[in-house]
Amino acid sequence: MDHFEYRDGELFCEEVRIADLAAEFGTPLWVYSQNALLSNLREIQIAFAEAEPVICYSVKANSNLSILKLMNEAGSSFDVVSGGELYRVQQAGGDTTRVAFAGVGKTDAEIRFGLESNILMFNVESEAELDAIAAVAGDMGVVAPVALRLNPNIDAKTHAKTTTGKKGNKFGIDIERASELAAKVLADGRLSLVGIHMHLGSPILTTEPYAMAVKKGVEIVNEFRAAGHDTNWINLGGGFGINYKQNEAPPAKAFADVIVPAIREAGCRLALEPGRFICGNAGVLISSVTFTKREGGKLFVIQDAAMNDLVRPAMYDAFHRIWPVKPAVAAPDDFEAEIPGCEPVDVVGPVCESGDVLAKARWLPETSRGDLICTFSAGAYGTTMSSNYNSRPRGAEVMVSGGTHRIIRRRETYEDLVANEIIES
Ligand code: LLP
Repeated sequence: MDHFEYRDGELFCEEVRIADLAAEFGTPLWVYSQNALLSNLREIQIAFAEAEPVICYSVKANSNLSILKLMNEAGSSFDVVSGGELYRVQQAGGDTTRVAFAGVGKTDAEIRFGLESNILMFNVESEAELDAIAAVAGDMGVVAPVALRLNPNIDAKTHAKTTTGKKGNKFGIDIERASELAAKVLADGRLSLVGIHMHLGSPILTTEPYAMAVKKGVEIVNEFRAAGHDTNWINLGGGFGINYKQNEAPPAKAFADVIVPAIREAGCRLALEPGRFICGNAGVLISSVTFTKREGGKLFVIQDAAMNDLVRPAMYDAFHRIWPVKPAVAAPDDFEAEIPGCEPVDVVGPVCESGDVLAKARWLPETSRGDLICTFSAGAYGTTMSSNYNSRPRGAEVMVSGGTHRIIRRRETYEDLVANEIIES
């Protein structure tokens, strides 16, 4: 549990008591560890150092401006998938000349914004997108740097909703068509084929899919070079898994070991787009118990975080460790097993959907009204996928560094909920 640990029976983030933060800012509350964010980025930077990669932190995982600023200052670049994300990078003071712009449905306005921002490359997902980028670049009198996003037909064994590199997903260009589209780029003075891109899925817990992808990638780049392209970049996307349960994810070094040698041998530049690896275990979601009830033979813990805050359990049946902030029983190593002194409970939120469940049949010590609960590994795809469903204001976000903390997003108010709406007077 990176930088989040129990000391003398209560949960700390770095040197700060989580209970103190909850008292100051209320719940639901997102708490991030700045040192966890930095050390996760550093783990990737060190593991891949030999390839001198450009690491493009994947903004979609957590796009809070303070996190983007921190990433920028620590030497990371960015992967964006929308004009909105590119705008965030700018607002955070990020260097847009090292940005990779991905996404299957870029609009002309987004393409123009990317070109105006001098981005490093567009990850191009279809022939139609190539045409659109060429047209906008032609209009602007510039040459657009493009990397073909290839679908390598590799099964990364992730959840059906987060696998991207298998034939039939909406992502990328079938690898068999790579050469044909590359020839099209070569013939078009408005485009320059700077590289290829692949993103296999997320989260990936084995290194084999990357080993296969880099092998295919190097073959294709060599084909492109033989055909006269000045193609240098291999962008292998993100997807590196993290420990949601125990120690199920390999360290960054294991991924680097299968990627770096092939990249160096091919004399290519490496780009990576890690999101979850950097912020997933650097953030937690703190909630407080509103009620408990026994109905239908089950014990429910109803707390004030819900699927609108963290949708991953409802959407992907994702497992997040959950444990009280001041537990009566020490946190176990294995959260899936039966835990002495505990009983299985459904941890649910107040949203009016049966799917509003953070954990099902989870062994937890007794809790009661007002107790604080921590949902771990919530730093990635928590706030970015949150909504105001059931007109629930989003919680505050706090960054902890050592013994200090600062608010990085204030709690939404009821006024915020209706701020953009217009009623006839
Ligand atoms: N690059 C591309 C092109 C991607 O599509 C993604 C994630 C990433 C990089 C970053 O992947 P990461 O390193 O964070 O695994 N909402 C889901 C995950 C969706 C991932 C979408 N693409 C979840 O909560 O598990």
